[in-house]
Amino acid sequence: MIILRENALNLLKGNNTKEFEVLVALANLSRAENVGDQVCIHGIIEFSNYCSQNCLYCGIRTGNKKIKRYRMPLEEIKRTAVSASNNLGYKMLVLQSGEDLWYDTDKLAWLIKSIHKECRRCLLFLSIGDRDYNTYKVLYNAGARGVLFRFETSDVALYEKVRPNCSFSERINHLEFMREIGYLTASGPIIGLHGQTMESLVDDIYLMKKLKVTMATMGPFIPASGTPLEDNIGGTVSLALKMIALTRIIYPRARIPVTTALEKIGGNEARIAALNGGGNAFMLNLTPSQYREYYAIYDDKNKMESHLHSLQAVGELTKLIKACGRKVCRGWGTDFTLNKKNFASLCNMEG
Ligand code: 5AD
Ligand code: SF4
Repeated sequence: MIILRENALNLLKGNNTKEFEVLVALANLSRAENVGDQVCIHGIIEFSNYCSQNCLYCGIRTGNKKIKRYRMPLEEIKRTAVSASNNLGYKMLVLQSGEDLWYDTDKLAWLIKSIHKECRRCLLFLSIGDRDYNTYKVLYNAGARGVLFRFETSDVALYEKVRPNCSFSERINHLEFMREIGYLTASGPIIGLHGQTMESLVDDIYLMKKLKVTMATMGPFIPASGTPLEDNIGGTVSLALKMIALTRIIYPRARIPVTTALEKIGGNEARIAALNGGGNAFMLNLTPSQYREYYAIYDDKNKMESHLHSLQAVGELTKLIKACGRKVCRGWGTDFTLNKKNFASLCNMEG
């Protein structure tokens, strides 16, 4: 299935219901053909909300003095991850924090190794921000196999405006060296920032393809209080759904998660629409309850029903996936270039 950039742009700009329905149907066909019916459920542990960066859109930016900060002790992060893998059956976990150098390379390497010692082949993704090549190399050698590292927007001027003191080319450079080291990458844009054009959103899709990201992760911008953008208008469900559908058509083999930001503004209806319009994964929050409300990258982030309790959340999601005629993935997904044998050898573990 081929779509021209010009057509993608018109679809993104348009608000014709019939056109939207056709787009979603085509994305669903492309999804079935390219990655099948399986839907993966990933878990995310937000282990620290300290961040040295000051992104204008983000509620845990260093300049937000209104929020309470926390750091999970290493042992507790380990316990949470091990329990998610061994008791709840998660095959892929994201360890996420703000840019928090308290967790230095040694601590993170210890954490990754300790989790692997007690889990059976759990794929670990890091979402810890800007660290140098050597750090990422050491953490890869410790057993991390993926990074979640959004480029946020391909509009260079906008990127450098909303991420003060950061350079877009460095961000891309990071993604490239991460891939070179061997990491699976998860990247993509925030959708609906003030000043973001439809042209740049189409560019974002082609950039995910060019970077060969394993996971095309994107979600609507949600204004966060205590930030310079708190009074801005956020991204919409329909724009996010169009982005997912177009990404599925332009970059058909990507894993496309239904992100928590989309769930937050669109609820179950948006989850179903995204699943039926190109999406093939979910990300559930496994952060222990006493910390959840403080990981407030946007308002009320962790006050959703679907995040009540992990077991219950998995149960509800499984029902939803089945009701959409799909299957819950029990492995790492068909689209990852991983199988039992090479995953075990990559992680220096028994097969
Ligand atoms: N709305 C939506 N997404 C946000 N992120 C940060 N702040 C917000 C917000 N206010 C996203 C960014 C970041 C990821 C961890 O969360 O894309 O990379
Ligand atoms: Fe920090 Fe990431 Fe938020 Fe930026 S988006 S302030 S790097 S947590």
